[in-house]
Amino acid sequence: MGKEIEFYEEIDSTNIRAKNWSKEGAIEGSLVIAEKQNAGRGRMGKQWDSPKGEGIWMSFIVKPVMSIEKIPQLTILAGLSMCYSIRQVTGLDIYIKWPNDLVVNNKKVCGILCEMVKVKDELVVVVGIGVNVNSKKFPDDLSHATSLYLEGKKLFSRESIIKSFLRRFEENYKIYIETGSLMNFIGDYKNYCINLNKQVKIIEGQQEFIGFVRDIDQEARLIVEKEDGSLISILSGDVSVRGL
Ligand code: BTN
Repeated sequence: MGKEIEFYEEIDSTNIRAKNWSKEGAIEGSLVIAEKQNAGRGRMGKQWDSPKGEGIWMSFIVKPVMSIEKIPQLTILAGLSMCYSIRQVTGLDIYIKWPNDLVVNNKKVCGILCEMVKVKDELVVVVGIGVNVNSKKFPDDLSHATSLYLEGKKLFSRESIIKSFLRRFEENYKIYIETGSLMNFIGDYKNYCINLNKQVKIIEGQQEFIGFVRDIDQEARLIVEKEDGSLISILSGDVSVRGL
């Protein structure tokens, strides 16, 4: 990962650039990093604040040979890899909010947006990661957000986190592709996931319901017991999960 790197002082969105780059023939592992994004994008059509120099705003390209239904598992792998790396570099107790938000003290420090592109019949996945590293404050409407600086009370090296992440993701991705499954990772994922054995509110479009997270299966689906006792499994996608 990161053998080819494009660096921008300012860009609309590193995900948009990585998607265009893949159409121009970028190789697997190509990485786009920006100091500032003017139109950073989050999941479910939300915007992602990406002020200059305050965080890691990056996207990389993978070309997995796998069925399209398995693509969400890549975001699980990316989230878990970033969780290990931030723990290692900062020593902070960082956890995963299913499927792949990273939180400290229940506030979000990192989000991942995976997007797919078809390039001449080849499936290309752009994994975009935003980490609030050294932000000193957030706008009032982002009261659920925090930064590593605010939680750790010191500035952290973005470079160290990026390097550690790229190394880990590459190792984990290799294992994932070889085994064709998340089986080597799901144990750690469950250890770090804050939603397991907790009540959650699931929001999918206009529909919402309350349930209890009984398990996370080998495919990283959330196994939720509804109030009527029935079990459903939830795949990430356009679903929002809130702790209660
Ligand atoms: C989320 O909503 O949690 C996902 C946020 C993803 C943000 C990152 S920042 C780098 C990359 N470029 C974007 O426009 N979005 C992702």
